Amino acid sequence: MFAALILMCFFAFGSITASSIDKKYNNQSEIIEDMLEYMFSCMDKLKINPEICSDLIMKNKDHSDKKYDNCKCFGPCIAKEIGTMDPETGKWNWAKLKEMSNLLTDQTLINEAKNMEAHCFDETNTHCEAGYAMLKCALENSQMTKDMVKSYVATKEESEKNQGDE
Ligand SMILES: *[C@@H]1O[C@H](CO)[C@@H](O)[C@H](O)[C@H]1NC(C)=O
Repeated sequence: MFAALILMCFFAFGSITASSIDKKYNNQSEIIEDMLEYMFSCMDKLKINPEICSDLIMKNKDHSDKKYDNCKCFGPCIAKEIGTMDPETGKWNWAKLKEMSNLLTDQTLINEAKNMEAHCFDETNTHCEAGYAMLKCALENSQMTKDMVKSYVATKEESEKNQGDE
């Protein structure tokens, strides 16, 4: 699930404006380092419960339930810190996403970034709704996300089965 969250945040890289705290990244490791830091601070700020939020990758849950509201804000929270979402308008900063994806050296991530840009470009949704739309799009279009969901579901079923055996 951790990996899925990282991916979600990564693609939370999205909108442009003149952000005053616009940090210049030099390489992939700088991006990942900051992202991890913001992941934790956003989890804290939004009181994210991974157990609850992971329901959003499951089709059989009612995603409109209020208990998921903060989960939808998780990616945008990180994106606003990193500069890929405008904190005021809540729009993705695609130029920044592109700039950052140019720094990637991992081929899998590069392909995923291209894929997301091709399929998930979104200038309509803002703030938390944009985060949820991006997650839904990743679930449909990103092989990496699909693989992670598959292994997550398998792990979950396995643990439920074991609990049942006890
Ligand atoms: C990334 O860039 C920073 C700043 O230029 C540098 O200190 C660091 O060693 C670089 N890391 C890698 C893995 O290239």
